[in-house]
Amino acid sequence: MKLMVTGGAGFIGSEFVRMTLAEHPEDSVVVLDKLTYAGNVSNLAAYAQDPRLRLVKGDICDAETVTALAGTCDVIVNFAAESHVDRSLEAPGQFIQTDVYGVYVLMEAARSRKHERFLHVSTDEVYGDVSEGRCRETDRLQPRSPYSASKAGGEMLVGAYRASYGFPAIVTRGANTYGWFQYPEKIIPLFITNAIDNEPLPIYGDGLAVRDYILVDDHCRAIDTALRRGQVGEDYNIGAGGEIDGQTVADTILALLGKPASLKQAVADRAGHDRRYAVDSTKLRALGWTPRAPFSEGIERTVRWYVEHPEWWRRLKNGDFWAFYQRNYKPLSPGSG
Ligand code: NAD
Ligand code: TYD
Repeated sequence: MKLMVTGGAGFIGSEFVRMTLAEHPEDSVVVLDKLTYAGNVSNLAAYAQDPRLRLVKGDICDAETVTALAGTCDVIVNFAAESHVDRSLEAPGQFIQTDVYGVYVLMEAARSRKHERFLHVSTDEVYGDVSEGRCRETDRLQPRSPYSASKAGGEMLVGAYRASYGFPAIVTRGANTYGWFQYPEKIIPLFITNAIDNEPLPIYGDGLAVRDYILVDDHCRAIDTALRRGQVGEDYNIGAGGEIDGQTVADTILALLGKPASLKQAVADRAGHDRRYAVDSTKLRALGWTPRAPFSEGIERTVRWYVEHPEWWRRLKNGDFWAFYQRNYKPLSPGSG
């Protein structure tokens, strides 16, 4: 297969590219990535000299570039997105541009090149806050942040293309993902790198919001399963089936690093903070996929990777990083904690 992987220099996309090149020697990959703050060429350094990989810096919203590259490939796997909820609260416009309009540009290119398969990587956050049970693929999408609404908007367009043009799309809805090469703004890499440096771990509100954390290689094997064994026209949830709250994430990381609980710092809650995400992945498991790493094992491997690769993350915690950090985290208002 000749794959075009958009957003392939980001966290999950680069793991998917490395996995594809390692496990499918006959495949080749063209990565199209805008190299935003979250994109990082060094994530693909292991394959920099491999003739099966080509990296193109460009925007999925640029139809000319996208159509030209789509003509050299059999399939598009779309990871490209603005992906951080807190940034979407501050500036939603770029999320709508990339996560909705960009999906349209990619689908038009795939259609004009008569691709037989298109995999769109979405998120379990499109279901919104899940007070009980686990979401099935047929449940209503009720996004509550500008990020998840943009991802749901992209999905709505995919649905319209399926219905209107018979567009051969597969959608995956993955749970919160963690592991190596994750930009240190999401909770797990932020808390690990802050703890290594004895900086406070900012916990929103009571820290009891729950996520279904999945290790990045489990998520990518799931996407690979959906791509190669899934049916076009279908959506697939991807979750590890665990429920872990923010306090537990912080305690686990501090324990693994031998740091004191006093590094935990309650901060003002995130606006519109979803209390719980949980998906039922029975449909994808029926295709033979199953997550391998329990959280206890995945978090230990992840902490070790950040301890062993300070050169990767230290340069990312630069002036822009701390400027956003200062704007984003607010002390608890008096009497609230
Ligand atoms: P990320 O922010 O680490 O990487 C996103 C990548 O997309 C970066 O390399 C960035 O440069 C690139 N990009 C952004 N805008 C672009 C544009 N307009 N054109 C081309 N490239 C662009 O994100 P991630 O965590 O790797 O997430 C990848 C995908 O998986 C996203 O679609 C996200 O919605 C989805 N997802 C993420 C998670 C998670 O927990 N991280 C969970 C489920 C689904
Ligand atoms: P995050 O990693 O941003 O993923 P998402 O919001 O897309 O699920 O946040 C995961 C959980 O951790 C969420 O409940 C918010 C919480 N959180 C904190 O308590 N402190 C932080 O600094 C961050 C980034 C997140």
